[in-house]
Amino acid sequence: VPGGIDLRKEIDRLRKDKNAVILAHYYQSGDLQDIADFVGDSLALAQWASRTKADILVLCGVHFMGETAKILCPDKKVLVPDLNAGCSLADSCNATDFAEFIKENPGHTVISYVNTSAAVKALTDVVVTSTNARQIVESFPVEEKIIFGPDRNLGNYINSVTGRNMKLWNGACHVHEQFSVEKIVELKKEYPDALLLAHPECKNVILTLADKIGSTAALLKFATQSEARRFIVATESGILHEMQKQNPDKIFVPAPPNDSTCACNECNFMRLNTMEKLYNCLKYEQPEITVDAEIREKAVLPIQRMLDISA
Ligand code: 13P
Ligand code: SF4
Repeated sequence: VPGGIDLRKEIDRLRKDKNAVILAHYYQSGDLQDIADFVGDSLALAQWASRTKADILVLCGVHFMGETAKILCPDKKVLVPDLNAGCSLADSCNATDFAEFIKENPGHTVISYVNTSAAVKALTDVVVTSTNARQIVESFPVEEKIIFGPDRNLGNYINSVTGRNMKLWNGACHVHEQFSVEKIVELKKEYPDALLLAHPECKNVILTLADKIGSTAALLKFATQSEARRFIVATESGILHEMQKQNPDKIFVPAPPNDSTCACNECNFMRLNTMEKLYNCLKYEQPEITVDAEIREKAVLPIQRMLDISA
């Protein structure tokens, strides 16, 4: 990026010239969230992508979010600021092993979290996000045999609230698994008025302590509507940007990780994206997301099914 250029202005000019839209997840840095045309959770990003009239979509998030947008809009150009922005949860479930798991459990309906590769989605009957997982699982009869992957914490949580006994894939997110119970308990003692907000990807012991469990969008809504003044937030700390913006008088404390020497309540993959990379990506129209046509044809069905159920 040439020195002295106003990135915000240039990004704005490029998006208008090229009829491009910028979508950002709540885990992006504040500057990316502020410049985006739309900020949302993973369900809202997919819903937005399925409706947009733009020629180019820039997905500021991680790879599976770009892939989902490309699967929904195969004729549009889908760009991401950094192709290396992966996801440890999606990586914990490779398609060959998942296919084997499905074979070992015949007669099961396959429900997959959106945090998966296109190849895993192609093996799936319905995709879910943390916003609609409960609703979608409950749309099946109680006796339905279900495989749920890849997040074991979300799967356990959905089993516990629905009384189902879904077979779980043993995957997890490295950011949500490392919140410290001891430090959260200490914070709660220090601030007895504080409510604990937790994403269902957190371990069960954290969820047991939580005052509200939900997707990024659900936690944000709860924080805005609640009468409480202070919140401990057990999810990626990027969400604090929008929480604070909507609630300037409330106090949001990021839940501390086990290792106090790292900023590991930030997702290192999400944080690979920067304003400079966004500018370059709009300017050069790359890196571009591509999805194999055969995989896309299969993967679009469970995503569309999810969008239909959550409409
Ligand atoms: P949401 O669906 O709540 O936005 O979560 C996405 C994600 O990557 C969680 O780690
Ligand atoms: Fe994946 Fe976890 Fe990062 Fe979300 S926070 S994108 S689940 S690694």
